[in-house]
Amino acid sequence: MRDVTPRTEDLLDWYDAHARVLPWRVSPEDRAAGARPDPYRVWLSEIMLQQTTVAAVKDYFYRFTARWPTVTALAAAADAEVMGEWAGLGYYARARNLLKCARVVAGDLGGVFPDTHDGLIALPGIGPYTAAAIAAIAFDRPETVLDGNVERVMARLHDIHAPLPGSKETLRARAAALTPDVRPGDYAQAVMDLGATICTPRSPACGLCPWRAPCAARVAGTAADLPRKTPKKAKPVRQGTVYLGRRADGAWLVETRPDRGLLGGMLGWPGTDWTEAPPEPAPPCDGDWRILGAQVRHTFTHFHLILDVMIAALPADAAPGRGYFLDARAFRPGDMPTVMRKAFDLTRDSGPARAV
Ligand code: ADE
Repeated sequence: MRDVTPRTEDLLDWYDAHARVLPWRVSPEDRAAGARPDPYRVWLSEIMLQQTTVAAVKDYFYRFTARWPTVTALAAAADAEVMGEWAGLGYYARARNLLKCARVVAGDLGGVFPDTHDGLIALPGIGPYTAAAIAAIAFDRPETVLDGNVERVMARLHDIHAPLPGSKETLRARAAALTPDVRPGDYAQAVMDLGATICTPRSPACGLCPWRAPCAARVAGTAADLPRKTPKKAKPVRQGTVYLGRRADGAWLVETRPDRGLLGGMLGWPGTDWTEAPPEPAPPCDGDWRILGAQVRHTFTHFHLILDVMIAALPADAAPGRGYFLDARAFRPGDMPTVMRKAFDLTRDSGPARAV
């Protein structure tokens, strides 16, 4: 008869041989020799990895840790420096909470991260998933870590056909039942690696899987169809206009977006609200505003955005009603979130602007 009990030892043996090398990770070999991960690096990586792939995070992680090697160093950084370094990674509330959290840990906790799920979840920006991941990976606590990879592995292992997100608690219970007391930090990372490299969304490599024998979906031939997902509602389309004004001395008219809301705290171009109906024009100051032939297209979690881009050469005495002039030497497009950088890039790539 088929052995239907997945053994954590089989997964850990596989991890010992195939663990991904990641910049925030202590290898299973080093862990076995007594090395422990730096909680700061684990925390930083987990915040960056929320809704973001390992491939996208790596370079940001290297830059952050080179510039701010400890939580105390990060806590002492200026907000604009951290927001600028985060630019392009998206979900900017993460960066604002990152700083808040660093300041609590450095200021109130003597630079030491709490070592339990409950202590971690009390900190800004740390929700149930991240608290579990840090507690497991940094402190070897037997917490259940359930991300998209682990959901997929559990749905397949137990051939669960109920669709996500409704099936989340069922999958969590399955994941909790498997979480071991032995090497829980390695185990958490092993399930993630299995999901990322073997039990992949399409064409899973079942032949190489350490859990192929107990996998119910492999036996049923349903692995590639799981997990099922309830279809998402189509995203609405919003429209807006951004205004890229430049003075003859090269200074750009920019603004720091309000702390709350989308792209909060980030550097951006002044503009209209983003609405489903065409927006009212809202130039930040008088000028010979001309529209570019091309538009910016960008997708956020809850909507698609189409932006008109207006440009103007502004007079030396321009008095903006909002925003401020940033010296050409201080202006770094890379400090802006992607949607704003796309608007800047269009001013380089597209043909002549026309009057409206
Ligand atoms: N995704 C979220 N956390 C991760 C981690 N620690 N390693 C790999 N992928 C992850």
